[in-house]
Amino acid sequence: MCGIVGYIGNGNVYDILIKGLHRLEYRGYDSAGIALVNPNGRLNVYKTKGKVENLEAFCQDKDLEACAGIAHTRWATHGEPSDCNAHPHFSEDRNLALVHNGTIENYKVLKDALSQHGCTFHSETDTEVLVQLIEYIKTKNSCSLVDAVREALKQVVGAYAIAVVEKDNPDQIVAARMSSPLVVGIGQNEFFLASDATPFVEYTKEAVYIKDGEVAIIERGKPLKVVSLENKESKVDVKTLEMSISQLEKGGYPHFMLKEIFEQPHTLHDCIRGRVVDGGHRVMVNGVNDNKDKFKECKRIIIVACGTSWHAALLGKYLIQDMCRIPVEVEYASEFRYSNPVITKDDIVIAISQSGETADTLAAIKIARGMGAFVYGISNVVGSSIPRETMSGTYIHVGPEIGVASTKAFTGQVMVLTMLALSIANLRGTMTPEQIEELGSHILQIPDKVEQVLKLNNRIERLSLIYTYARNFLYLGRGYSYPVALEGALKLKEISYIHAEGYPAAEMKHGPIALIDAEMPSVIIAPNDHLYEKIVSNVQQVKARGGNIIAIVTEGDTVIKNIADHVLEVPEMPECLTPIITSVPLQLLSYYIAINKGKNVDMPRNLAKSVTVE
Ligand code: AGP
Ligand code: GLU
Repeated sequence: MCGIVGYIGNGNVYDILIKGLHRLEYRGYDSAGIALVNPNGRLNVYKTKGKVENLEAFCQDKDLEACAGIAHTRWATHGEPSDCNAHPHFSEDRNLALVHNGTIENYKVLKDALSQHGCTFHSETDTEVLVQLIEYIKTKNSCSLVDAVREALKQVVGAYAIAVVEKDNPDQIVAARMSSPLVVGIGQNEFFLASDATPFVEYTKEAVYIKDGEVAIIERGKPLKVVSLENKESKVDVKTLEMSISQLEKGGYPHFMLKEIFEQPHTLHDCIRGRVVDGGHRVMVNGVNDNKDKFKECKRIIIVACGTSWHAALLGKYLIQDMCRIPVEVEYASEFRYSNPVITKDDIVIAISQSGETADTLAAIKIARGMGAFVYGISNVVGSSIPRETMSGTYIHVGPEIGVASTKAFTGQVMVLTMLALSIANLRGTMTPEQIEELGSHILQIPDKVEQVLKLNNRIERLSLIYTYARNFLYLGRGYSYPVALEGALKLKEISYIHAEGYPAAEMKHGPIALIDAEMPSVIIAPNDHLYEKIVSNVQQVKARGGNIIAIVTEGDTVIKNIADHVLEVPEMPECLTPIITSVPLQLLSYYIAINKGKNVDMPRNLAKSVTVE
């Protein structure tokens, strides 16, 4: 969900747009492009894969005269990064150029219908379908661009922030949003448009945040007009920006990590969109139905990953074994690649990687493929190496994750693994339609449940102060909460540099309980699941030895509340869905402890966002 910039005014359009794209680079992207409308009836589009510098180099000898324009940094979701798939996209008659942030869920249906009307397409993107649809409606109804945009968007299902320019109307930009951000900057005889205010805050602090379902009509010499899809005029609410550029880049949050923690209701909604439909009755993840036989007949699944992705993989084991009754092995990719693994053609290997570029995971994929396994990838970056190296797979669609410590990608990976397990269970008949629908309906509630958990933020910020100088931490959990304990420990150690270990709670009595004393705080994840009585006794064992305990419990818990030192209550969920809910307080706890210690939470020492070397 990357970046849009637009400009109408007497300034240097090209320079303002390119500078605006640079301002949006922090959001992560894979391609860039620009559309320039000039008063002599020319509409030029220039676009390249890669960095904005590539685009600038490409534009060196081009016609850059313009009185208005739009520009885009792409985060690919449909069609891998390429010059052709980059935005802006022309309509077929090249009268219109459009840029888009988001995903059009029903683009295939729209594309088929337009193809039957003779439309041809030049890219693999969902976006091109939208600009062709707008042109089709505009021509068919002989209507204005604004009316064509409104009518087209009524047919669209999905998330979008768009901007459209028209060759024959150099004094207008039409923009619209649903779920993806868009803001208009109001200058002196000039207008700016962007995904956030960073591209224009140096020119004007007067901003209008476009709301979901609104269409903005930006016209030279006229006041900004905003209408609904039904053409009902909305009040234009101008705000004066107070934030610095740095604050704006982080959406007003002090760090990308905190922004990404708070994005999770939105990113989980995006992750679920189109995969859990009909109120939960149908759950489908890309690649399962296309490879029915593989998933139906496989005798073993091996999941390879690193770091946080390995913790998600471990949850994948619990989910797939629970729902599909297939034996699952989880391997650190770095160990798998050198362990002379025994892989057969009856195996499915799943590779999980947020970046899609982790060297150890890539190496594991190559080995598994070489030994005849069917390899399925789960990644967040369209067009990265791992999706290219695997036979099938799916994306988690949580948008660029900038913070080195993975948060929204982890919950996105676990969400996809849950839906994958349900898709396979449906295929193998190991769950009834009623059971699938029951879980599917709970999955649809997860974004709201995470929103509810985020309300613990201030409580956790205060609680973190107690543990700023802790030198060690234990994270304990059982069943589905054990991988959550591992992930919570990793979050703390990688950004606060406090030593933290995750353990299966029952394993404590085999040695680690010797560590317990008042100086060894324990985080115990203890939701109300089938192991609750067991975890209660683990909590009692730790307390009996003078341990200090932070417990994550299901709201309404009264037992652990009377034993632990601090209790954080989360909403009740079906057991297999609790990891997404219980991991969020641990993200916040590690964030605030690290902040208390003055650490650089977005770029912790010694770490990289993507480990592309051994
Ligand atoms: C997690 O917070 C770390 N950034 C790290 O463990 C990361 O999960 C690991 O390097 C794997 O990265 P990937 O998901 O991009 O393959
Ligand atoms: N879905 C569009 C594409 O894949 C837009 C992606 C974005 O948000 O940049 O091209």
